[in-house]
Amino acid sequence: MSKELNGYYATVLDSVGDGVIVVSLEGLVTLMNPAAEEMTGRSRRQTLEVPFATAFSSEPLLVEMVARTAASGISRSDQDNVVLKSSGRLIPVNATTVPLMQPDGEAIGVILTLRDLTSIRELEAAVRQADRLSTLGTLAAGLAHEVKNPLGGIKGAAQLLERELDPDSELLEYPRVMIRETERIDRIIRQLLELASPKGPRYSPVNLHRVLGDIILLQREVASAREISIATGFDPSIPPIMADEAQLTQVFLNLIRNALEAMTEGGRLTVTSRVLADYQLGRTEGRNRMVAVEVADTGPGIVPENLPKVGTPFYSTKEGGTGLGLAICQKIVAEHRGMLKIDSQPGQGTRISVLLPLVQSPVKG
Ligand SMILES: Nc1ncnc2c1ncn2[C@@H]1O[C@H](COP(=O)(O)OP(=O)(O)OP(=O)(O)O)[C@@H](O)[C@H]1O
Ligand SMILES: [Mg+2]
Repeated sequence: MSKELNGYYATVLDSVGDGVIVVSLEGLVTLMNPAAEEMTGRSRRQTLEVPFATAFSSEPLLVEMVARTAASGISRSDQDNVVLKSSGRLIPVNATTVPLMQPDGEAIGVILTLRDLTSIRELEAAVRQADRLSTLGTLAAGLAHEVKNPLGGIKGAAQLLERELDPDSELLEYPRVMIRETERIDRIIRQLLELASPKGPRYSPVNLHRVLGDIILLQREVASAREISIATGFDPSIPPIMADEAQLTQVFLNLIRNALEAMTEGGRLTVTSRVLADYQLGRTEGRNRMVAVEVADTGPGIVPENLPKVGTPFYSTKEGGTGLGLAICQKIVAEHRGMLKIDSQPGQGTRISVLLPLVQSPVKG
């Protein structure tokens, strides 16, 4: 093969987003593209001309796949079990091995391709969460209706009692507790109904930065009273997107409130927006441009074992919290065909990203 042609093929391979590793029949790594270096956390310098089984001894599944394809000449694929450990990050991948053959059919090695499934797995998790919510929602709506009427009766009776009692009576505390607690139940029920509500988004062009600016303006006082500074970084090129303004307001308000509530000893709230080019949301959706709004705090963070519970209805670590705030956010964002991502480092803070499709308002005229 001519030198230029060689360079041409090398450039093509270097530009492919999937990881590609070629192993010779002797079992040595003969080629590795940058995507494979990044996913496996190994450099070409470390691996080229090194036995694959040695260089990748910490990935026994891959070693086995390569060995089997080399021995049998049969392609293999695994998209459920391979998780690569690269620079502290776990990457679920679809690994495929195919025999590398010369035009005459003689096998001269094995090609291993690795496809990063992170964004697909994240989407699958979001879909599972949405499923769980819809079952729960139906149940909750029924229950909420049943509870609402008797609750109104209890509150009314307690208010009557409060009025009838002597203003100096020690007993006054009791009806007051009853009233306070019925109001709390009422709040839970309203939130539950919100969560269960079948009404989807009503779309119109929404200026995200105006919505965020309004919320931040309203929260400034709360923030400064708690010694929390607020920083924003908006990408001015983001156009109005098609969304339900009232619902998105609720999402951002919930997230910003959570962030402020987390920072009991002061800190910094950062709200930013940016465009994610070509973010892939699952296989069928194709590549869409997404907008990411990120709400980050410098609070205590969430310990890893609690992360899966966050956003599950009724999970709350706060006194008086309903634990429905994030569940509602998740539902709204999913209905907008977006997703919510939580990144948290205990002791450092939490960042919640709201990813929304960048669907622009239809141009009139
Ligand atoms: N920014 C954050 N930092 C740390 N923990 C958080 C953060 N946001 C949410 N959490 C955790 O997730 C839990 C659930 O949050 P969610 O908003 O659903 O309910 P809540 O805030 O407890 O109650 P409510 O929203 O009704 O006031 C919180 O109780 C808290 O433990
Ligand atoms: Mg909350």
